[in-house]
Amino acid sequence: MTAGTLAGGRTGCASRSPSAAYAAHVTTPNTTSPADTIAAAYATPEPALVLGAVVVDGTASPTSPVQVPLSMLNRHGLVAGATGTGKTKTLQVMSEQLSAAGVPVFLADVKGDLSGIVAPGQPSDRITRRAAEIGDDWQPAGFPVQFLSLGDDGRGAPVRTTITSFGPQLLAKVLGLNDVQGSSLSLVFHYADNAGLPLLDLKDLRAVIQHLTSDAGSAELEQLGGLSTATAGVILRELIGFADSGADKFFGEPELDTAELLTTTQDGKGIVTVLELIGVQEQPALFSTFLMWMLADLFHDLPEVGDLDKPKLVFFFDEAHLLFDGASKEFLASVAQTVRLIRSKGVGVFFVTQLPTDVPREVLAQLGNRVQHALRVFTPEDAKALASTVSTFPRSKVYDLAELLPALGIGEALVTVLRENGAPTPVAWTRLRPPRSLMAQLDAAEQSRLVAASPLMAEYGQAIDRESAYERLLGRVGGGGVGGGGVGGAGTEPAGAAPAAPGPHEAGNPGAMTPPMQPPPKPAASDDHESGVGDKVGEVLGSPAFRAFSRSVGSALGREITRSLFGTARRSPRRRR
Ligand SMILES: Nc1ncnc2c1ncn2[C@@H]1O[C@H](COP(=O)(O)OP(=O)(O)OP(=O)(O)O)[C@@H](O)[C@H]1O
Ligand SMILES: [Mg+2]
Repeated sequence: MTAGTLAGGRTGCASRSPSAAYAAHVTTPNTTSPADTIAAAYATPEPALVLGAVVVDGTASPTSPVQVPLSMLNRHGLVAGATGTGKTKTLQVMSEQLSAAGVPVFLADVKGDLSGIVAPGQPSDRITRRAAEIGDDWQPAGFPVQFLSLGDDGRGAPVRTTITSFGPQLLAKVLGLNDVQGSSLSLVFHYADNAGLPLLDLKDLRAVIQHLTSDAGSAELEQLGGLSTATAGVILRELIGFADSGADKFFGEPELDTAELLTTTQDGKGIVTVLELIGVQEQPALFSTFLMWMLADLFHDLPEVGDLDKPKLVFFFDEAHLLFDGASKEFLASVAQTVRLIRSKGVGVFFVTQLPTDVPREVLAQLGNRVQHALRVFTPEDAKALASTVSTFPRSKVYDLAELLPALGIGEALVTVLRENGAPTPVAWTRLRPPRSLMAQLDAAEQSRLVAASPLMAEYGQAIDRESAYERLLGRVGGGGVGGGGVGGAGTEPAGAAPAAPGPHEAGNPGAMTPPMQPPPKPAASDDHESGVGDKVGEVLGSPAFRAFSRSVGSALGREITRSLFGTARRSPRRRR
């Protein structure tokens, strides 16, 4: 495969137009075999996503497609099944058709094997046999992809968010804080919001907590109420451990604009955004909350649109159990609420996990479209999970679901989806389509080349190495001379950091509202977080100049921060495509 082939993939290379692809499937079969009867319930005059063909007694019927109308994808879904049963390939098949139909897709690529979606698949006997069995005129095709990476492994443009935007609830989940510690963290955010102190990175947050627990901050701490010095100390320790694990590179600027996920090519194909997570596999709490941040951020930004002919975005939430593991009631309620409300903003969310029971009931109840791959039954717990999985499906007149579920072949699934009238279809044992794109990891050199050429790399490739807005506030107040040591005395940047550089969201930052500043002198010590920065910050925050300043500018900034579900925030309107 040549570089040119891949580049060509970005401008769309689906083999047929979506309407041609679906035309073959809109007529109701006129025979009455069990397969045809099931397929009749899936027939639709609307554009639809074809999953595969109905199987009865082990034989697929090539004239009996199993499909879901694009208009029903915002009713969300679940792709479940034991390891190696075909979940990832199902995501690939769905994403390909969505892209061809002009719907942008977001995929979290946990194992790296979804990167192949950009390249045409390799024909093989197995693929041609499967395609013939299910009446699919398989052609190799690549799809337009943009790669992001949570990490700096070069597999995608690096993504970050600011602490302010991430919000206290998601951060508490990542840090594994208990309820009391979590609400204390919310108080810290509340304080910072009101004081007009944007928290860009972990260091900003640490400095604010240090201030509040210092002598100078004791009055403010008291006013806040409910934040004990001991709890603040625990949070601080967790933050330090978190930063030491390498997490600080995920927080800061430039922050990912989640509108990047909603893009199409010039010829109307949906761009598939693949977020590479292979480098952070060891930090599951981080990546699952990061995915939730993306979803909450989209929710926050997108307008209400009601039901559309096709979604604005389909978001596949892989390894979803990680999000729910150990989550507080409040957290689960926020997930359920986000999922419920994002539907009318035109976003379809598909959770991907091994067992439906991994997903809390309130969320599961909202997942109208189900693709259930095989479950393996080895233990009594497995048998229980099987029984409860079966109970979440409509009763079948054709199949014994409890018997069939452990016996499904690889790349087969039990499917039920929502029809246009909102009723669930009867369960269809489905042999899934083979992906048209490459069923393997993309060649690493090819991926690097695509990443380097991506506009996202130009936008997000370089972390902005500058004084945070918080420190700029200090700089304004101190006029470069706080406590004799200048702002540098309270500096939180390591010695030798580059001077301030303008960022893409400059207009939303407090520094941009004030005359340009000289980069402050650097502290002599390389890291003075643990050595009195709290006192220094307190000196500044307690000064009459700061109080006047924060009333005029800080409170205006405070108004700009609107915290949404999960306490995620947006400080200023961002570029929209
Ligand atoms: N729809 C399909 N068409 C053709 N082959 C398939 C299909 N689904 C699965 N396979 C075959 O099964 C293998 C495993 O599938 P896949 O990687 O999707 O499993 P998985 O459920 O994602 O596994 P894991 O939980 O380990 O990530 C694939 O590499 C492929 O060979
Ligand atoms: Mg997989």
